[in-house]
Amino acid sequence: MAIGSNESRDDWLGVKDRVCVITGAGGGIGAEIVRQLLEAGARVALLDRNEQGLAAVLASLKFGPGRAMAITCDVTRPACVQSAADQVKAAWGPASVLVNNAAALYADAVMDIAIDRWNQLLAVNLSGYLLCAQAFGRQMVAGGGGCMVHMASIAATIPQPYSGAYSVSKAGVKMLSQLLAVELGEHSVRSNVVSPAMIRTPMSERIYQDPAVRVRREQIVPVGRISAPADIVGAVLFLASDRASYISGQEILVDGGLNQAWLGLIPRPGFQKEDAAAFTN
Ligand SMILES: NC(=O)c1ccc[n+]([C@@H]2O[C@H](COP(=O)([O-])OP(=O)(O)OC[C@H]3O[C@@H](n4cnc5c(N)ncnc54)[C@H](O)[C@@H]3O)[C@@H](O)[C@H]2O)c1
Repeated sequence: MAIGSNESRDDWLGVKDRVCVITGAGGGIGAEIVRQLLEAGARVALLDRNEQGLAAVLASLKFGPGRAMAITCDVTRPACVQSAADQVKAAWGPASVLVNNAAALYADAVMDIAIDRWNQLLAVNLSGYLLCAQAFGRQMVAGGGGCMVHMASIAATIPQPYSGAYSVSKAGVKMLSQLLAVELGEHSVRSNVVSPAMIRTPMSERIYQDPAVRVRREQIVPVGRISAPADIVGAVLFLASDRASYISGQEILVDGGLNQAWLGLIPRPGFQKEDAAAFTN
């Protein structure tokens, strides 16, 4: 569909009836991606290993089986991922959008982490992304094109200490996405990354239970608040849509400006907010 044409105005994103697959759709950001893609007119397959989470999200949607389907799937298991891909294709035809979003996070120091835990996290956060990119990417190639959006993190670029393999996995996701963009471009498949910072979801909720921690975090973010899943999803929908038809191999940071704030956090007498105010008064 030509962007900007009259026909496109009621389908601004150009995702109407598109077959979209979201991993980690049983809660948090994934569930919000599902909601917003459905609102935009897409058909959405929800994948998660958490069957109860999937059922709860599905029950909360106002769209029926023709528009949304839940598939219990552990993205670390190749057979599970292939079976999910086969189910989607049999029901709706080839997928044209994949959002790789499922992830785990454990606390570990690099020097102490057991190799099994290291591998376990990489299996979900990195190899799981590869397996889904392969299974659904083949459908995109056969179907004439598509796009992938991979959820990374600001921790892909800035080390997140005491989080085991998390930063390594997210750095890997960024490079995986770039590789996919280059290797699949000739098949009209795009690949991009969204990197969020601090969002309140089941993954992070424990951190925000302490009000002092929440306030300290809010003070550090230039926009002055912690984000909700809805703050992140706009970037995902944009990259998944025809509006981003010539964008591939890129990353969008959705961090409220956090990544730009570091120098302002270092004490610098004479060059702080109160000094600047005194100067201008
Ligand atoms: N919450 C944050 O502050 C934050 C910050 C930066 C990046 N992210 C990233 O955003 C994405 C979504 O995170 P969230 O905060 O919504 O997390 P979440 O824990 O709320 O949701 C993750 C989902 O992934 C599913 N999942 C985990 N392992 C799986 C597996 N092996 N197979 C299938 N599904 C599996 C879980 O069941 C869960 O429903 C993740 O990639 C995460 O790394 C989150």
